[in-house]
Amino acid sequence: MQIIDGKAIAATIKKEIAQQVDEIMAKGGKRPHLAAILVGHDGGSETYVANKVKACEECGFTSTLIRYEDDVTEEQLLAKVQELNNDPDVDGFIVQLPLPRHIDEQKVTEAIDYRKDVDGFHPVNVGRLSIGLPCFLSATPNGIMELLRRYNIDTKGKKCVVLGRSNIVGKPMANLMMQKGTPGDATVTVCHSRTLNIVEECQAADIIIAALGQPHFVKAEMVKEGAVIIDVGTTRVPDSTRKSGFRLCGDVDYENVAPKCSYITPVPGGVGPMTIVSLMKNTLLAATHEIY
Ligand code: GUN
Repeated sequence: MQIIDGKAIAATIKKEIAQQVDEIMAKGGKRPHLAAILVGHDGGSETYVANKVKACEECGFTSTLIRYEDDVTEEQLLAKVQELNNDPDVDGFIVQLPLPRHIDEQKVTEAIDYRKDVDGFHPVNVGRLSIGLPCFLSATPNGIMELLRRYNIDTKGKKCVVLGRSNIVGKPMANLMMQKGTPGDATVTVCHSRTLNIVEECQAADIIIAALGQPHFVKAEMVKEGAVIIDVGTTRVPDSTRKSGFRLCGDVDYENVAPKCSYITPVPGGVGPMTIVSLMKNTLLAATHEIY
Protein backbone atom coordinates (compact mmCIF):
# COMPACT_ATOMS: atom_id res chain seq x y z
CA MET A 1 0.00 0.00 0.00
CA GLN A 2 1.29 3.41 -0.97
CA ILE A 3 0.10 6.66 0.60
CA ILE A 4 -0.41 9.37 -2.01
CA ASP A 5 1.40 12.41 -0.65
CA GLY A 6 -0.64 15.32 -1.98
CA LYS A 7 1.16 17.76 0.27
CA ALA A 8 4.56 16.91 -1.24
CA ILE A 9 3.28 16.92 -4.84
CA ALA A 10 1.55 20.25 -4.23
CA ALA A 11 4.79 21.75 -2.88
CA THR A 12 6.65 20.54 -5.99
CA ILE A 13 4.04 22.02 -8.33
CA LYS A 14 4.04 25.35 -6.49
CA LYS A 15 7.81 25.52 -7.05
CA GLU A 16 7.30 24.73 -10.76
CA ILE A 17 4.72 27.52 -11.02
CA ALA A 18 6.97 29.99 -9.16
CA GLN A 19 9.75 29.17 -11.61
CA GLN A 20 7.44 29.86 -14.57
CA VAL A 21 6.47 33.19 -12.98
CA ASP A 22 10.17 34.07 -12.60
CA GLU A 23 10.63 33.35 -16.31
CA ILE A 24 7.66 35.57 -17.22
CA MET A 25 9.03 38.38 -15.07
CA ALA A 26 12.55 37.98 -16.52
CA LYS A 27 11.04 38.54 -19.98
CA GLY A 28 9.36 41.73 -18.75
CA GLY A 29 5.89 40.14 -18.51
CA LYS A 30 3.03 40.82 -16.11
CA ARG A 31 2.78 39.10 -12.73
CA PRO A 32 -0.28 36.73 -12.63
CA HIS A 33 -3.07 38.21 -10.51
CA LEU A 34 -5.80 36.23 -8.76
CA ALA A 35 -8.67 37.99 -6.99
CA ALA A 36 -11.08 36.36 -4.53
CA ILE A 37 -14.43 37.57 -3.27
CA LEU A 38 -15.36 36.33 0.21
CA VAL A 39 -18.78 37.01 1.70
CA GLY A 40 -19.39 36.61 5.42
CA HIS A 41 -17.36 34.68 8.00
CA ASP A 42 -17.95 30.97 7.39
CA GLY A 43 -15.02 29.15 9.05
CA GLY A 44 -14.36 26.80 6.14
CA SER A 45 -14.51 29.57 3.54
CA GLU A 46 -12.20 31.80 5.63
CA THR A 47 -9.62 29.00 5.80
CA TYR A 48 -9.87 28.15 2.09
CA VAL A 49 -9.49 31.77 1.02
CA ALA A 50 -6.58 32.38 3.43
CA ASN A 51 -4.87 29.30 1.97
CA LYS A 52 -5.46 30.59 -1.56
CA VAL A 53 -3.89 33.96 -0.70
CA LYS A 54 -0.90 32.17 0.88
CA ALA A 55 -0.48 29.95 -2.18
CA CYS A 56 -0.46 33.08 -4.39
CA GLU A 57 2.47 34.41 -2.36
CA GLU A 58 4.33 31.11 -2.69
CA CYS A 59 3.81 31.10 -6.47
CA GLY A 60 4.80 34.75 -6.93
CA PHE A 61 1.29 35.89 -7.91
CA THR A 62 -0.42 39.11 -6.96
CA SER A 63 -3.58 38.44 -4.94
CA THR A 64 -6.51 40.64 -4.02
CA LEU A 65 -9.05 39.70 -1.39
CA ILE A 66 -12.39 41.49 -1.55
CA ARG A 67 -14.56 41.01 1.54
CA TYR A 68 -18.23 41.68 2.13
CA GLU A 69 -20.44 41.18 5.15
CA ASP A 70 -23.36 38.71 4.99
CA ASP A 71 -25.80 41.52 4.20
CA VAL A 72 -24.19 42.45 0.87
CA THR A 73 -26.82 42.70 -1.85
CA GLU A 74 -26.82 40.64 -5.03
CA GLU A 75 -26.54 43.89 -7.01
CA GLN A 76 -23.41 44.94 -5.11
CA LEU A 77 -21.83 41.55 -5.70
CA LEU A 78 -22.74 41.52 -9.40
CA ALA A 79 -21.29 45.03 -9.76
CA LYS A 80 -17.99 43.83 -8.26
CA VAL A 81 -17.96 40.83 -10.59
CA GLN A 82 -18.37 43.19 -13.56
CA GLU A 83 -15.58 45.39 -12.24
CA LEU A 84 -13.24 42.39 -12.02
CA ASN A 85 -14.34 41.17 -15.47
CA ASN A 86 -13.27 44.56 -16.87
CA ASP A 87 -10.07 44.98 -14.84
CA PRO A 88 -7.19 44.23 -17.22
CA ASP A 89 -4.80 43.60 -14.33
CA VAL A 90 -6.92 40.75 -12.90
CA ASP A 91 -6.23 37.53 -14.81
CA GLY A 92 -8.69 35.36 -12.92
CA PHE A 93 -11.00 35.52 -9.94
CA ILE A 94 -13.23 33.40 -7.77
CA VAL A 95 -16.32 34.00 -5.68
CA GLN A 96 -15.99 31.72 -2.67
CA LEU A 97 -19.06 29.53 -2.19
CA PRO A 98 -21.42 29.10 -0.42
CA LEU A 99 -23.03 32.54 -0.62
CA PRO A 100 -25.77 33.78 1.76
CA ARG A 101 -29.23 32.51 0.88
CA HIS A 102 -30.54 35.82 -0.45
CA ILE A 103 -27.95 35.71 -3.24
CA ASP A 104 -28.45 33.56 -6.34
CA GLU A 105 -25.18 31.61 -6.63
CA GLN A 106 -25.88 30.53 -10.18
CA LYS A 107 -26.54 34.09 -11.30
CA VAL A 108 -23.25 35.23 -9.76
CA THR A 109 -21.32 32.31 -11.28
CA GLU A 110 -22.75 33.04 -14.73
CA ALA A 111 -21.88 36.74 -14.41
CA ILE A 112 -18.17 35.88 -14.24
CA ASP A 113 -16.38 36.20 -17.59
CA TYR A 114 -15.66 32.55 -18.47
CA ARG A 115 -12.19 33.60 -19.60
CA LYS A 116 -11.45 34.65 -15.99
CA ASP A 117 -13.38 31.79 -14.34
CA VAL A 118 -10.39 30.02 -12.82
CA ASP A 119 -12.73 27.90 -10.65
CA GLY A 120 -14.14 26.35 -13.84
CA PHE A 121 -17.72 26.74 -12.59
CA HIS A 122 -19.15 28.83 -15.47
CA PRO A 123 -21.42 26.84 -17.83
CA VAL A 124 -19.07 27.56 -20.75
CA ASN A 125 -16.19 25.86 -18.92
CA VAL A 126 -18.40 23.02 -17.68
CA GLY A 127 -19.75 22.46 -21.19
CA ARG A 128 -16.33 22.57 -22.80
CA LEU A 129 -15.06 20.03 -20.25
CA SER A 130 -17.91 17.67 -21.10
CA ILE A 131 -17.02 17.68 -24.81
CA GLY A 132 -13.28 17.51 -24.22
CA LEU A 133 -12.33 21.05 -25.27
CA PRO A 134 -9.64 23.12 -23.53
CA CYS A 135 -11.16 24.96 -20.55
CA PHE A 136 -10.60 25.89 -16.94
CA LEU A 137 -11.05 22.65 -15.01
CA SER A 138 -12.69 22.51 -11.61
CA ALA A 139 -9.83 22.55 -9.10
CA THR A 140 -10.45 19.42 -7.01
CA PRO A 141 -11.05 16.99 -9.90
CA ASN A 142 -8.08 18.45 -11.77
CA GLY A 143 -5.91 18.05 -8.66
CA ILE A 144 -6.94 14.40 -8.43
CA MET A 145 -6.06 13.84 -12.10
CA GLU A 146 -2.64 15.36 -11.40
CA LEU A 147 -2.10 12.96 -8.47
CA LEU A 148 -3.04 9.98 -10.65
CA ARG A 149 -0.69 11.27 -13.36
CA ARG A 150 2.28 11.88 -11.06
CA TYR A 151 1.89 8.48 -9.37
CA ASN A 152 1.53 6.76 -12.76
CA ILE A 153 -1.69 5.10 -11.62
CA ASP A 154 -3.22 3.08 -14.43
CA THR A 155 -6.83 4.12 -15.09
CA LYS A 156 -7.31 2.81 -18.65
CA GLY A 157 -10.28 0.46 -18.82
CA LYS A 158 -10.55 0.40 -15.00
CA LYS A 159 -13.84 0.49 -13.16
CA CYS A 160 -14.01 3.86 -11.42
CA VAL A 161 -16.77 4.63 -8.93
CA VAL A 162 -17.34 8.30 -8.12
CA LEU A 163 -19.31 8.75 -4.91
CA GLY A 164 -21.21 12.04 -5.05
CA ARG A 165 -22.73 14.05 -7.90
CA SER A 166 -21.91 17.64 -6.93
CA ASN A 167 -21.27 20.21 -9.64
CA ILE A 168 -17.91 21.06 -8.05
CA VAL A 169 -16.47 17.54 -7.67
CA GLY A 170 -18.57 14.50 -8.62
CA LYS A 171 -19.80 15.50 -12.07
CA PRO A 172 -16.53 17.01 -13.40
CA MET A 173 -14.58 14.12 -11.85
CA ALA A 174 -16.70 11.55 -13.69
CA ASN A 175 -16.25 13.53 -16.91
CA LEU A 176 -12.48 13.66 -16.60
CA MET A 177 -12.10 9.98 -15.74
CA MET A 178 -14.15 8.87 -18.75
CA GLN A 179 -12.31 11.11 -21.20
CA LYS A 180 -9.78 9.78 -23.68
CA GLY A 181 -6.25 10.06 -22.32
CA THR A 182 -3.93 9.27 -19.45
CA PRO A 183 -5.22 9.44 -16.80
CA GLY A 184 -8.70 8.79 -18.12
CA ASP A 185 -10.19 6.06 -20.33
CA ALA A 186 -11.94 4.63 -17.24
CA THR A 187 -15.37 3.02 -17.09
CA VAL A 188 -17.15 5.39 -14.73
CA THR A 189 -20.12 4.86 -12.43
CA VAL A 190 -21.49 7.77 -10.43
CA CYS A 191 -23.21 6.82 -7.15
CA HIS A 192 -25.24 9.17 -4.95
CA SER A 193 -27.74 9.31 -2.13
CA ARG A 194 -30.42 7.54 -4.21
CA THR A 195 -28.18 4.73 -5.51
CA LEU A 196 -29.62 1.37 -4.42
CA ASN A 197 -26.60 -0.94 -4.59
CA ILE A 198 -23.78 1.36 -3.53
CA VAL A 199 -21.91 -1.34 -1.56
CA GLU A 200 -21.82 -3.70 -4.56
CA GLU A 201 -20.77 -0.88 -6.90
CA CYS A 202 -17.86 -0.04 -4.59
CA GLN A 203 -16.87 -3.69 -4.19
CA ALA A 204 -16.51 -3.98 -7.97
CA ALA A 205 -14.44 -0.79 -8.30
CA ASP A 206 -10.73 -0.61 -9.16
CA ILE A 207 -10.76 3.09 -8.24
CA ILE A 208 -13.08 4.79 -5.74
CA ILE A 209 -13.26 8.58 -5.59
CA ALA A 210 -15.27 9.49 -2.48
CA ALA A 211 -16.79 12.96 -2.50
CA LEU A 212 -19.97 12.61 -0.44
CA GLY A 213 -19.09 14.64 2.63
CA GLN A 214 -20.04 11.75 4.93
CA PRO A 215 -17.27 10.90 7.41
CA HIS A 216 -16.01 7.29 7.15
CA PHE A 217 -18.70 6.28 4.63
CA VAL A 218 -16.34 3.93 2.75
CA LYS A 219 -15.68 0.89 4.96
CA ALA A 220 -13.13 -1.89 4.49
CA GLU A 221 -15.79 -4.43 3.42
CA MET A 222 -16.79 -2.11 0.54
CA VAL A 223 -13.29 -2.08 -0.93
CA LYS A 224 -11.72 -4.61 -3.29
CA GLU A 225 -8.21 -5.84 -2.49
CA GLY A 226 -5.71 -3.64 -4.36
CA ALA A 227 -8.15 -0.81 -5.12
CA VAL A 228 -7.08 2.84 -5.49
CA ILE A 229 -8.87 5.08 -2.98
CA ILE A 230 -9.14 8.85 -3.40
CA ASP A 231 -10.75 10.62 -0.43
CA VAL A 232 -12.18 14.08 -1.09
CA GLY A 233 -14.01 14.38 2.25
CA THR A 234 -13.10 17.25 4.57
CA THR A 235 -15.87 17.28 7.16
CA ARG A 236 -15.03 19.22 10.30
CA VAL A 237 -15.70 17.09 13.38
CA PRO A 238 -15.43 18.46 16.93
CA ASP A 239 -12.14 17.53 18.64
CA SER A 240 -11.42 19.12 22.00
CA THR A 241 -7.79 17.96 21.90
CA ARG A 242 -7.09 20.35 19.00
CA LYS A 243 -6.42 24.06 19.35
CA SER A 244 -8.93 24.74 16.56
CA GLY A 245 -11.58 22.61 18.32
CA PHE A 246 -12.05 20.37 15.27
CA ARG A 247 -10.29 17.95 12.97
CA LEU A 248 -10.85 17.15 9.31
CA CYS A 249 -12.48 13.80 8.67
CA GLY A 250 -12.43 12.06 5.29
CA ASP A 251 -15.18 10.02 3.61
CA VAL A 252 -13.07 6.87 4.01
CA ASP A 253 -12.48 4.77 7.13
CA TYR A 254 -8.76 5.19 6.48
CA GLU A 255 -7.43 3.01 9.28
CA ASN A 256 -9.32 -0.10 8.13
CA VAL A 257 -9.40 0.61 4.38
CA ALA A 258 -5.71 1.51 3.89
CA PRO A 259 -4.32 -2.04 4.43
CA LYS A 260 -6.47 -3.34 1.52
CA CYS A 261 -5.48 -0.66 -1.03
CA SER A 262 -2.76 -0.27 -3.60
CA TYR A 263 -2.90 3.52 -3.20
CA ILE A 264 -4.79 5.81 -0.84
CA THR A 265 -4.96 9.55 -0.15
CA PRO A 266 -4.88 10.61 3.51
CA VAL A 267 -7.03 13.39 5.03
CA PRO A 268 -5.52 15.88 5.52
CA GLY A 269 -2.54 15.97 3.16
CA GLY A 270 -4.04 14.14 0.17
CA VAL A 271 -6.46 15.85 -2.19
CA GLY A 272 -6.80 19.13 -0.23
CA PRO A 273 -3.40 20.68 -1.04
CA MET A 274 -3.86 19.74 -4.71
CA THR A 275 -7.10 21.71 -4.98
CA ILE A 276 -5.35 24.99 -4.19
CA VAL A 277 -2.49 24.19 -6.54
CA SER A 278 -4.96 23.53 -9.39
CA LEU A 279 -6.41 26.99 -8.86
CA MET A 280 -2.90 28.44 -9.10
CA LYS A 281 -2.33 26.53 -12.35
CA ASN A 282 -5.58 27.86 -13.80
CA THR A 283 -4.56 31.39 -12.83
CA LEU A 284 -1.23 30.95 -14.62
CA LEU A 285 -3.08 29.61 -17.68
CA ALA A 286 -5.38 32.65 -17.56
CA ALA A 287 -2.43 35.02 -17.28
CA THR A 288 -0.61 33.42 -20.20
CA HIS A 289 -3.82 33.11 -22.27
CA GLU A 290 -3.12 29.45 -22.94
CA ILE A 291 -6.81 28.53 -23.00
CA TYR A 292 -8.65 31.70 -24.10
N1 GUN B 1 -16.39 26.32 -1.96
C1 GUN B 1 -15.92 25.06 -1.77
N2 GUN B 1 -15.00 24.77 -2.70
C2 GUN B 1 -14.89 25.85 -3.49
C3 GUN B 1 -14.10 26.15 -4.63
O1 GUN B 1 -13.30 25.34 -5.12
N3 GUN B 1 -14.27 27.39 -5.16
C4 GUN B 1 -15.15 28.29 -4.66
N4 GUN B 1 -15.26 29.46 -5.27
N5 GUN B 1 -15.90 28.03 -3.61
C5 GUN B 1 -15.77 26.82 -3.02
